[in-house]
Amino acid sequence: MTDRRIPDLKLAREGTETAASPAPALAWTIPAGNPTATWTELRDDAGSTHRIDDGASAGAAWPFAPLAPRERRRIQIRAGLADGTVTGWSAPLEVRAGLLDPADWTADFICLADPDRIAQPALLRGELLLKDAPTDAVLHVTAIGAHVTSINGVRVGDHQMAPGWTSYDKRLVADTHDVTSLLTAGVNVVGASLGGGWRTEQYGFFGRGRRVYGDQPSYAAQLHVTYADGTQEVFTTGPRWHARGDGPIIDSSIYEGETVDLRHAIDGWDRAGASAEGWEPVAVEEVALVPQQKLSPPVRVTRELPVREVLTTPSGATVLDFGQNLVGRLRIETDGPEGTVITVRHAEVLEHGEMGMRPLRGATQTDTFTLPGGPATLEPTFTFHGFRYAEVTGWPGELDPSAITAQVMHSDMRPTADFACSHPLVNRLHENVVWGMRGNFLSVPTDCPQRDERLGWTGDIQVFSPTAAILHDVDGFLADWLVDLRLEQDAHDGLVPFVIPDALADEVHATAAWGDAATIVPWTLWQRYGDLQVLADQYSSMRTWTDRLVALAGDDRLWEGSMQFGDWLDPDAPPDEPGASKVSRDIVATAYVFRSARIVSQTAALLGNDDDAVAYGRIAQEVASAFRDAYVTPAGRMMSDAPTAYALALGFDLVTDPQMRSALGARLAERVRATGYRISTGFVGTPLILEALSSTGHADAAGRLLLQTDNPSWLYTVSMGATTIWERWDSMLPDGSINPGEMTSFNHYALGAVAEWLHRSLAGLSFAEPGGRVLRIAPTPVAGIDWARTVQRTPYGEAKVEWRLESEQLTVDATVPAGARATVELPGRDPVEVGPGAHTFSCTAPAAVAPSGPYSLRTDLATLIDDPRAIAAIRDELGTFSEGYLAGFIGRTSWTEGSALADVLFGVPPHVLAALDARLTVL
Ligand code: BGC
Repeated sequence: MTDRRIPDLKLAREGTETAASPAPALAWTIPAGNPTATWTELRDDAGSTHRIDDGASAGAAWPFAPLAPRERRRIQIRAGLADGTVTGWSAPLEVRAGLLDPADWTADFICLADPDRIAQPALLRGELLLKDAPTDAVLHVTAIGAHVTSINGVRVGDHQMAPGWTSYDKRLVADTHDVTSLLTAGVNVVGASLGGGWRTEQYGFFGRGRRVYGDQPSYAAQLHVTYADGTQEVFTTGPRWHARGDGPIIDSSIYEGETVDLRHAIDGWDRAGASAEGWEPVAVEEVALVPQQKLSPPVRVTRELPVREVLTTPSGATVLDFGQNLVGRLRIETDGPEGTVITVRHAEVLEHGEMGMRPLRGATQTDTFTLPGGPATLEPTFTFHGFRYAEVTGWPGELDPSAITAQVMHSDMRPTADFACSHPLVNRLHENVVWGMRGNFLSVPTDCPQRDERLGWTGDIQVFSPTAAILHDVDGFLADWLVDLRLEQDAHDGLVPFVIPDALADEVHATAAWGDAATIVPWTLWQRYGDLQVLADQYSSMRTWTDRLVALAGDDRLWEGSMQFGDWLDPDAPPDEPGASKVSRDIVATAYVFRSARIVSQTAALLGNDDDAVAYGRIAQEVASAFRDAYVTPAGRMMSDAPTAYALALGFDLVTDPQMRSALGARLAERVRATGYRISTGFVGTPLILEALSSTGHADAAGRLLLQTDNPSWLYTVSMGATTIWERWDSMLPDGSINPGEMTSFNHYALGAVAEWLHRSLAGLSFAEPGGRVLRIAPTPVAGIDWARTVQRTPYGEAKVEWRLESEQLTVDATVPAGARATVELPGRDPVEVGPGAHTFSCTAPAAVAPSGPYSLRTDLATLIDDPRAIAAIRDELGTFSEGYLAGFIGRTSWTEGSALADVLFGVPPHVLAALDARLTVL
């Protein structure tokens, strides 16, 4: 009988099949339904055994002798459970070490010797003679650019855009593949198709594009072969390889798309016995860097979507609608005469029925295929597009939609959370956040995946990382990106460039909320995965950034007067001035000095650096105190009376005094009500605002803000048909035209940071301790939502909270994974602590007192906005009078106390006023 208690063992950083360090951290979970482990024991096949007298299972240090490069070690685990029993040993987990020792790397980077155009794709080929079929063969492979490698005509692995983008001038990464089964005794051929990828792209917008990394791609590979007799051989790329530049990929660019001429396909070029004609010796590129094993999971095609509808646009174009804004490319099966040219343009939205290409700016994202004659599969290799719609021209005969699929691409991270609730639009919002994350986690965390940016903007991932870490396992992905962040920072004297990798290569300034990715992203990973390694690796980067901020703030501890992005894309900022936020940029800047200093202090304490813990703790307190003196009035107002100011003071704990917090919360709720519960925050305030409200007793206001469908709001985008999160609250205007701002994407994850609140507060499951060993269960029911559920795959196993509200009875079903425990906080109850297993709790949750009339035209606006029936009456009557008037009224009215409805209804005819008054009187 199988032992259902055996722990499930894995490498802590999932998604990377290969260990990137000689001592990779381990993690395990005890299957659900079992008691907590009181100890665990690990053993390897070298005979070493280690006991861990602690039930912690996240981020455990590798206890064995370090792995040698390419070494395979099998490890097993068993556990002693709290009921006194001992589980059996797990099935062995085979850990394969990657490229670990720089001295081990001897391969040359090779490229076309005599390219005839910039960024020219190439085919490369090398032959090797094996004395026997190997018993083990490992390929380390990389490109400065992107490659697809084959051995004897068989593709190696399923990675796309490999090896991905890094700060090429500072760090190269390689993938490791087990290729034993692809090699035979005798002549073998390694082939590579090579494209420019991120290396040869021109970065910088508004016509300022520059190839900052180089004009041509290059490729390197190293094959380690072991034979049955124990002997080994190493084969590497080098001058004896051959290349040609006249293969089927004519041109390739991430922004512009790919041109493929299948008449140039060369049959059998990557197999033994192919003709040598047309192949020239390669050139060797001198590259000073040695590739390192990649930490991040590879990009893959993870799903395919069929065509949902074939549209004919008003101008007569044929456009395929995939029903979902996605990132990837088309795969087309076709059959047509030789020389037929099929062109595919990609767009995220239609505007007045036509392809909305303007927001792409310089990125044409157009693929062109020339058919070879006869059946053919069309798919670009070294590009990806952001699109929901694809316009196809040149199709031979009648287009067959079943021959076309959209291939969805992203870094292949494990999904770790599900969410659902009783409100369909909120569910779609959550789905949009997940789609936005997929498309923008493609090798590096990007702002957007479609226009001529697709850059690792630091502010965007800073605000989104807590959400990202709930939705997917991003430990390896973001740890990999952070390595580049610290290398780029080293090159700029501690400042963090706006984008990582620093492809803009402009002068670097410190900007709050953007550069603070240096402290906040590692801190987020520690919170979620409980592995101190990331903090240890990043500590000097975190501290150096904070030192620069502290110096900029100066003796008064206030960082004022600098260039800042501020609360970027505040909905009240003009379309072409996205940084013109309502909140003072100095408030944003100083709040982040505090946040970074505090994180550095906490990190220092965790790493045992007590002096730094004290020093940065003191700085943080001084900044907080200066912040309060300068920006918080004794009466509980912020100097910028804008929601983001309150959200920062509360969300970052700049104000801790309970009375002051409650005053700030009350004022924030008033400000939110004044906007008619339409959102009024940008990148900085949006992730914080719902929690700032709900944690200060204003869950009702948070609920109204969440469920709003008027522009601007999260659900406005959903009700406009969005399938991803937009860059601007109104990327698409209510009349169906695209926002005139030149910066308008329909796939930006930043404003999707609201999903963190959906999981942790609305559904009610968060981590009270890093790694989730202690959970917090605290649902926040809001009017308009009857039930909600979050399921999260934590480092300890699956945790779940599901609540429903039925006639003032709140019932909560919760599952706590083995090895974890949870504090349960329900309305009107003292917190209780529970252990692993399934639990049900219930309590009464008195509904908020429903607002009631009678009202009149003299009722004040603050009272009316809180009664949805009154708002419905106002909408009906003003809408019947004039839709245009209604839209203007909703847009400009400030719903405050002290101002009556009649005072703001300018120009409304008396009979409409009378009808409205009559409606209000009977409520
Ligand atoms: C990007 C943003 C980014 C911003 C900062 C934009 O072009 O798309 O998301 O954070 O610039 O200025």
